[in-house]
Amino acid sequence: MAAVDAMAPELDLQVACWSARGWPNPDLVLVTGSALEVDLGEPLLPPLPLAAIVPFPIRAIEGHRLTFELYRAAGGRVVLYFRGRLHCYQGFDPHQVVFPVRLAALLGADLAILTNAAGSLDRAMPPGSIAALADHLSLGGGSPLRGDPPRSWGERFPALNDAYDPALRSLARAVAHGQGFELHEGVYAWLLGPSYETPAEITMLARAGATLVGMSTVPEVVALRQLGVRCAAFSLVTNLAAGLAGSLPTHQEVMAEGERAAARIGGLLRGILDHPDLPGPDPSHAGRRQRERILASRSSAGRAT
Ligand code: HPA
Repeated sequence: MAAVDAMAPELDLQVACWSARGWPNPDLVLVTGSALEVDLGEPLLPPLPLAAIVPFPIRAIEGHRLTFELYRAAGGRVVLYFRGRLHCYQGFDPHQVVFPVRLAALLGADLAILTNAAGSLDRAMPPGSIAALADHLSLGGGSPLRGDPPRSWGERFPALNDAYDPALRSLARAVAHGQGFELHEGVYAWLLGPSYETPAEITMLARAGATLVGMSTVPEVVALRQLGVRCAAFSLVTNLAAGLAGSLPTHQEVMAEGERAAARIGGLLRGILDHPDLPGPDPSHAGRRQRERILASRSSAGRAT
């Protein structure tokens, strides 16, 4: 059995447990990366460890708390907020990395907002810039769709045109403009890491069309798009990519830039979450139907015993 297949019953179980605990189902999932945590106000459900809902051992890296909590955004939408994420470079497989966001989608979330720290390949996007991802290059190796995912999750061969939802991107641009800063756009190259790139790799990536480089986000977006979830992803540029600056990229620099930009990125995310024009569900969203199927099958199994 391929690994993703083993995750499907675990996800069904977590959907049923979520309902059994009486927690509200999320409408939207938010994942923030290295040192990019935001304050969303008073939670509906205070922070709990991610380990409580993930069926394999996990450990955090510096700058990632690995907790989840629930909020209600201005329009009434329930936001499931993951502080920190798992990465393939930690030894996790893509199907493990995406477990939290897949769970969110199967619980009914139809919008996803993800953030990450990234190196910039474009001097016009210096450290401190915030960029919406417009597209990606998936070069980290592996896919969360490898194996035989349940047909109910969506297409076997999902298209990734407009993986980063154009309506969400233009709404984000308007929010940033209203808050007085420019939201850049970029093409994000996902590499495995954890070493930073060589200058030669950065030259290659730039020729291939990348303007941002990082070690996350793409597996989550691939899994979410299969499930029909609209995605927006934002990079905080923490450094110029290898070979473009005089200095070497370091994790300390990534963390420090994250802390400096926290207020701006927090304002952007809150502005999007609370926006009255936040788009509704994608018609191809499979999560709600899937959740209903899981809950119906569990309650009929309960009646049979
Ligand atoms: N490369 C890869 N990942 C990163 C970088 C980088 O330069 N900066 C922050 N995350």
